[in-house]
Amino acid sequence: MNDQWRFIASSMPQWLEDCRPYAHNGSPAAYIPELAKAPKEALGITLLAADGSMINGGDSSFMFTMQSISKVFTLLLALIDNGEEAVFAKVGMEPTGDDFNSMLKLELVEPGIPFNPLINAGAIAVTSLIRGSSPAETTERILAFMRLMAGDDSIGYNETVSSSEAATAYRNRSLAYFLKDNNVLEAHTDVEQVLSVYFNHCAIEVNCRHLARMGLILANGGFDPLANRQLLPRRYVQIAKTFMLTCGMYNASGEFAIKAGIPAKSGVAGGILAVVPGQYGIGVVGPALDQRGNSIAGVRLLETMSVECDWSIF
Ligand code: DON
Repeated sequence: MNDQWRFIASSMPQWLEDCRPYAHNGSPAAYIPELAKAPKEALGITLLAADGSMINGGDSSFMFTMQSISKVFTLLLALIDNGEEAVFAKVGMEPTGDDFNSMLKLELVEPGIPFNPLINAGAIAVTSLIRGSSPAETTERILAFMRLMAGDDSIGYNETVSSSEAATAYRNRSLAYFLKDNNVLEAHTDVEQVLSVYFNHCAIEVNCRHLARMGLILANGGFDPLANRQLLPRRYVQIAKTFMLTCGMYNASGEFAIKAGIPAKSGVAGGILAVVPGQYGIGVVGPALDQRGNSIAGVRLLETMSVECDWSIF
């Protein structure tokens, strides 16, 4: 292994120790009751390189739900199912600067399509485009896709978390009905069915190793170096990584791009999937979140590592 890999492996315990205390300044998401139970002080990371070398640190085996990280993969699946033109007729390509669950711009900016596929409104629109004759079949297709990406057939979704979100999703429900009124969700679309698939894919359970494997495929333009095959069209991976860089950390995406300079996607369960293009896939978890909904210690850890290893793509 090269010098950088050895440096990362030897520095990891110290980086984790330095970043863990940041968790005290945040707290787990409370608006989905089941997520509020997560251990606040957990912090874990996995780095995976193309030759299969892996560095695990802290709570890397801790299982958590993907939440918004799943939106990168539902976008990829919707692109595979429908092509670019059809997807971008329903969702834009611009960051919002607003909260991830905001409905502000849906009404203010014509033609009332969500600004991008990684905010809640955009992800709900994308979910409606994924093929399947029933919510169960669509959920199953998304699960099969995640299993392929993560290289683990045992991945499933956490029904307790999905139901917990469904029971309290007043904001997402409002967004989805608004989208139907704006014809982003088609007339034949059953809003509750789309939402149930959306809650299920947000509740897919993974650990840091799964995210690192998914990230490694994105880092390599859709090629899985461990299985030695092209899993995704390169163009779609390019689109996904661009969204991760511009919108992946919500209204903290600009700051993260300046401080870390790599594509990343966060979720409100505290996970972050990060990509060092051409090199590594990274999975991070730390359930305590900052004001914008990103893992507070996880962001700090990635920013620290990126500076120390000079990963910024700029
Ligand atoms: O729809 C929601 O609110 C959640 N299922 C996912 C939101 C999320 O992960 C935003 N992330 N930072």
